[in-house]
Amino acid sequence: MAKIITLAHQKGGVGKSTLALNLALCFKDQLKVALIDSDLQGSLYHLKEDFPELDILAPEKISEIPSLDYDLIIVDTPPYLSNRLNELFSYSDYVLVHTKAGFFDVMAIKLTLALIKFSQAQNQRLKAGIVLNMIKPRSGITAEVVDLLNTLGNPTFKYSCL
Ligand SMILES: Nc1ncnc2c1ncn2[C@@H]1O[C@H](COP(=O)(O)OP(=O)(O)O)[C@@H](O)[C@H]1O
Ligand SMILES: [Mg+2]
Repeated sequence: MAKIITLAHQKGGVGKSTLALNLALCFKDQLKVALIDSDLQGSLYHLKEDFPELDILAPEKISEIPSLDYDLIIVDTPPYLSNRLNELFSYSDYVLVHTKAGFFDVMAIKLTLALIKFSQAQNQRLKAGIVLNMIKPRSGITAEVVDLLNTLGNPTFKYSCL
C-alpha cells in the first residue's frame, strides 16, 4: 500500500497546496506518486493540464486511496474543517500541518492537532509534524512561539522563507 502524506489545516493561505505540489514534483522521478485535492473546488485538480507529468487525481478518488496502486499519495485539503478529515487521517501515515510563525497562527493549529490526536487512537501509524512557512528573513521566531511549539509535542520543520 502507498505511503500517504496529508496536508491539513483549517486556515487557507498558509501554503498547503504549494507544498503538496512541490512534494509531488520532488518525488515523481523516484516514486510512483499521485496528488489528490480533497477540496471539491480544489485548485490543484485544475492544474492537471499544466502538469501532465503528475498524476493529479479527482477528489472522488479519496475513498479509493487504500486500494490505489502508488508508492506515495499526497493529499491536499481545503481551508476549513472538512468532514472528510477523519477518513483521510485514518488512511494517512503522516499529516503535515502548516502555519506561519506568529503566536496566534500557531495557536490556530491546535484544533487540527487535536483532530489528529483523536485519529491516532485508531490509526497508530499516523504521525504529524508542524511546517513553519513564510518566515520573514531576519525576523526569526519569538521565544514565546518557540515555547508554544514545544508544548505541542510534534516535530517542527522550517519549510520556506518569504
Ligand atoms: N513559502 C512561501 N513563500 C512565499 N509565498 C508562499 C509560500 N508558500 C505559499 N506561498 C504563496 O501563498 C499563497 C497561498 O498559498 P497556498 O499554497 O495556496 O495556500 P493554501 O493551500 O494553504 O491555501 C499563494 O499565493 C502561494 O504562492
Ligand atoms: Mg489550498
